[in-house]
Amino acid sequence: MPDQAQFLWGAATAPHQIEGNNVNSDWWAREGSMPGMERSGDAIDSYHRFDQDMRLLADAGLNAYRFGIEWARIEPVPGRFSIAELAHYRRMIDTALGLGLTPVVTLHHFTAPQWFAQEGGWLGENAVEHFARYVERATEILGGVDWVVTMNEPNMLAMMVTMERALRSAPADSWQSPTVDNDPRPTLPPPDPEIGRILVDAHEAARKIVRARTGAKVGWTVANRAFVARPGGGEKLRELEHIWEDLYLEASRGDDFVGVQSYSSQWVGPDGIEPHPQHPDNTLVGTAYRPDALGIAVRHTWEVTGGVPILVTENGIATADDERRIAYTGEALRHLFQAADDGVDVRGYLHWSALDNYEWGHWEPTFGLIAVDRETFERHPKPSLAWLGDVARAGRP
Ligand code: FCB
Repeated sequence: MPDQAQFLWGAATAPHQIEGNNVNSDWWAREGSMPGMERSGDAIDSYHRFDQDMRLLADAGLNAYRFGIEWARIEPVPGRFSIAELAHYRRMIDTALGLGLTPVVTLHHFTAPQWFAQEGGWLGENAVEHFARYVERATEILGGVDWVVTMNEPNMLAMMVTMERALRSAPADSWQSPTVDNDPRPTLPPPDPEIGRILVDAHEAARKIVRARTGAKVGWTVANRAFVARPGGGEKLRELEHIWEDLYLEASRGDDFVGVQSYSSQWVGPDGIEPHPQHPDNTLVGTAYRPDALGIAVRHTWEVTGGVPILVTENGIATADDERRIAYTGEALRHLFQAADDGVDVRGYLHWSALDNYEWGHWEPTFGLIAVDRETFERHPKPSLAWLGDVARAGRP
């Protein structure tokens, strides 16, 4: 049974997806050069409206907000740190604390400064040192923060770096989103474990700094594919689990918590991941409607990490139908609490996402508890926000 008084009930965002005009980042540059990619532009202007966004969550009854610090804003030029931008993120932390929201702060969520990308990105010679230098400065503003995520989904990041490396020799004619399945669905390339190991080094370097300089619990968040084997697919399943998840979950063993991020599930046959077919129930990112994935994800994470406390740092559904979001989330939470009742140490549930936002090249898939008018930036809470707040007050689904 989770500790109800301490349990985090909240929602999550990432800086590049909500802030707007993240002009010094590698993603901003990519948006301008890749055919088929929509631009983030002003995003939903949360850079200026974070106070209102957090207030909506707190007023609904939630007690936590996961957001990120944007490296490209803090260090737009190598070694030159912006004191004003550090102060901006400190204001965000203070605002959250003032509203009774526990801040869960992500230091890296897919994006990096453009100069870092130009130096080779995560394949560059000094990648880990560069990241560590940024983390050192970022920790200066983390007083009073109890939860720090070093990196978001290193497994998906490794896959993106793998893809980008391949593009250098064979440029693509259109953008393949990491989170949106196009039709016909190309399978994402498996992340190269060599790249994964660089990210493990970066995580370990950051963890050391966060531990030395703050009082926060530190961990990273891993995208969970909730692979399930078809008859005869057991061996392939173990191979794919290692490449996609376990390499990263094993690196969590020395952490204070591990973030579980779960959306859907995938079948694995003897030949690999089964391409997911068209289906009327599919979500707006083309994945199967599988609220049970969260239960599979937390149980697998618990087993591989050998009992590291779990924070669900992302779970949600891309849908235009908010009733469906409520149905999905209610079901996912029941699977989560069943796992908790079976002894998995679950510390909180952060829904993806607080607001409809820029889904890495696409605006159509809407994951938010709050809708946003992209012309006026007006916020319109959906019924799911009040619903999740009620669940939070009750302490269980
Ligand atoms: C995850 C990302 C998050 C968002 C959701 C839908 O992979 O961490 O930024 O794109 O998927």
